[in-house]
Amino acid sequence: MRGLYIALEGADRVGKSTQLQKLAKRLKTLELQVVETQEPGGTPLGTEIRRLVLQEGNNSPLAELFLFLADRAEHQHRVLEPALRRGSVVVSDRSAYSTVAYQGIVGGLGADTVLRLHEENGLLLPDLVVVLDMPDDAERWDDRPMDAVESRTAQEALRQAYREIAHRWPDRVALIDADGSARDVAQEIWQEVWQTVVTWREGRG
Ligand code: TMP
Repeated sequence: MRGLYIALEGADRVGKSTQLQKLAKRLKTLELQVVETQEPGGTPLGTEIRRLVLQEGNNSPLAELFLFLADRAEHQHRVLEPALRRGSVVVSDRSAYSTVAYQGIVGGLGADTVLRLHEENGLLLPDLVVVLDMPDDAERWDDRPMDAVESRTAQEALRQAYREIAHRWPDRVALIDADGSARDVAQEIWQEVWQTVVTWREGRG
């Protein structure tokens, strides 16, 4: 039986990494095989691409789109597909829907264009996407330096882009209010994930 592919999404610094760890820990208590991963950068090639995109910064929008897609193709080949074939639950920090939000909607290349590129090239979409939604207030920004994408992307536009995504694809994408304590947010995420896990397990028989 194929595994399950779950992604956490959202604008920058909304707490995805912390929540990803919490989610993975909770899934492991169900004695599931869990694989934690990220885009960009879940593979050796991806680590190079991550550096090129996030440190160099001044790339053309189209070049950047294809770099993120190259990262995704490699990640799929080396991490996602083997894990899903083994029946694991994959939890990923970002996915195709980051490209839809950042390059497609905010960057102006078009959400449908980005999704079509995925479809035409056999790039997987997650079974469930949980979007962490919160206002862009100063508290969110700690002392870590901004990367190239963060510093040029309007965070409010990004928030609206993710809301649009959740509205357009409600069967796959759940929007979570992430403006609470890490514990409360983890609980909200869990409610979404739990339903998906139950359905998946039933299918597994
Ligand atoms: P993060 O790992 O801290 O979330 O940083 C990744 C950055 O790259 C973040 O600003 C979002 C951006 N990004 C895109 O613009 N498009 C994509 O497809 C992905 C996966 C990330």
